[in-house]
Amino acid sequence: MLIDESSVPIELASDPPDGMNLKQRIEELGPWFHNIRINGIETAPSHFLGNYPEVKYRHFKDALPRDLSGWSVLDIGCSSGFYSLEMKKRGAAQVIAIDTNERYLDQAQFAAQVAGLEIDFRHMAIWEIAKLGQKFDLVIFMGVLYHLRHPLLALDLIHEHAAKNLLLFQTMQRGSRVIEAVAEDYDFTDGRAPFDKPGFPKIHFVEQRYSGDPTNWWIPNRACSEAMLRSSGFRIESQPEEEVYLCRWQSLALPPDGSHCVYPSQDTPEKG
Ligand SMILES: C[S@@+](CC[C@H](N)C(=O)[O-])C[C@H]1O[C@@H](n2cnc3c(N)ncnc32)[C@H](O)[C@@H]1O
Repeated sequence: MLIDESSVPIELASDPPDGMNLKQRIEELGPWFHNIRINGIETAPSHFLGNYPEVKYRHFKDALPRDLSGWSVLDIGCSSGFYSLEMKKRGAAQVIAIDTNERYLDQAQFAAQVAGLEIDFRHMAIWEIAKLGQKFDLVIFMGVLYHLRHPLLALDLIHEHAAKNLLLFQTMQRGSRVIEAVAEDYDFTDGRAPFDKPGFPKIHFVEQRYSGDPTNWWIPNRACSEAMLRSSGFRIESQPEEEVYLCRWQSLALPPDGSHCVYPSQDTPEKG
């Protein structure tokens, strides 16, 4: 099913189930992270980023194929489901969407249900994506990297277990937007350069909170975002929006220890 994607609002595929007060149900599921228009009702009309994520999406939506017929898509950290819904509207054959927040998943599930779009929502952390046992034509990894204590591991897991072609990536960025060419090596005795250069890849560690959010852990500058993508095996094909990159999977030369990924034990250590 390919729906006119220019009509961003999601409209009900059918009347709401008997007795359902749509507005009330939307409020019960809130607060929503995504502003989605369901049958004329906006789910997050007072979002602090405006009409989010439509305001962001409009800058990069043309970077993706208009017709995703036959494609498999994995949306990591789907939140209220905006991007999953949009990919399904483009005709994707399969959309799996994961998140660790059950309330967001309920919202996304509800929006998909009223829009009549079949999306497989799962309560799952990025650390578990190998369990999906599948690689996807398009992996969406938007707005999640800086929420993770182990951002490079996340990119390595995506590379090794989930991506086979395109990665749509976004991260909050702070610091310089200058890009300095990365050298093959740097001289140990030159203790300051290149680290003082604004365009050297840097990531800022947030020990407490950023913007009131204790889950903002690592915020890269622009050079670092790009370096991390390259280093994890994703060739940057375009940057359609300041923080958004469309990348292509490429094979990686393995490091001397054999793998980028690590798999910490899931077992609880014995006490005592
Ligand atoms: C800033 S929101 C981004 C939502 C959406 N991808 C977007 O770009 O608008 C971050 C989302 O990632 C989810 N998340 C945080 N840590 C996660 C993890 N370890 N695995 C999967 N999802 C995670 C959060 O619950 C939240 O829905």
